[in-house]
Amino acid sequence: MHVITLKLATSLDGRIATAGGESRWITGEAAREAVHRLRAQHDAVLVGVETALADDPELTVRLAGHASAQPARVVLDSRQRLPLTSKLVVTAREVPTYVVATAEPDPALVAAGVLVVQVRAVGEDRPELKTVVQALAAEGLNRLLVEGGGQVAASFLRCELVDAIEWFRAPMLIGGEGRPAVGALAIAALADAPHFRRTEVREVGDDLWERYERG
Ligand SMILES: NC(=O)c1ccc[n+]([C@@H]2O[C@H](COP(=O)([O-])OP(=O)(O)OC[C@H]3O[C@@H](n4cnc5c(N)ncnc54)[C@H](OP(=O)(O)O)[C@@H]3O)[C@@H](O)[C@H]2O)c1
Repeated sequence: MHVITLKLATSLDGRIATAGGESRWITGEAAREAVHRLRAQHDAVLVGVETALADDPELTVRLAGHASAQPARVVLDSRQRLPLTSKLVVTAREVPTYVVATAEPDPALVAAGVLVVQVRAVGEDRPELKTVVQALAAEGLNRLLVEGGGQVAASFLRCELVDAIEWFRAPMLIGGEGRPAVGALAIAALADAPHFRRTEVREVGDDLWERYERG
């Protein structure tokens, strides 16, 4: 049984970055620490390759006293564009790092210690997400924290794979030209929109932390 949590860290108007891609930091330190605690509760943290390219993240749990194993890192990366110099690849021998692709594994990534999982493609030659979730479950990765960006968030929502949303909302407005937290969902009527029910609201520093479960 898999559990998929979508984490969003946004402005009040649901933006995750400026039009130019600047996203650090929208939420404050307390919210970021809460995200590290969330990571520690999951088997893997998953992002799209555009987030990996834009932010060069480590996606590790960085909490004082955290002694247990790190969650695995997973990058959805059809064409294996993740740079060999990225922090994820450079640390792949320390923390399990998966690249989910639609082509044969790139030998350079494999030689760097990255676990390349090849799955079948759909649509724009992207990994089919239900197959991705099954392939990760076969690796023992059942609890996934999806950390974006907007395109990946939208794909998981479109496939009805999101069980819960952890939404951190900072008291700022970025405006319509900023990057949306959730990309296109191809919804024609409100009745077709994915619905969630709010189960918790907390203040973390200056930010709000809302928790939603699938309705
Ligand atoms: N505020 C925050 O907390 C936060 C968090 C995350 C990201 N961000 C920001 O968000 C921006 C990146 O977001 P983004 O929406 O542009 O990109 P994204 O969702 O990070 O990555 C999208 C890319 O992932 C690949 N992909 C593979 N399988 C996919 C699938 N099934 N569905 C969707 N994409 C798939 C595609 O590239 P291929 O076709 O090459 O595979 C696609 O172009 C950056 O500016 C980053 O800083 C902010």
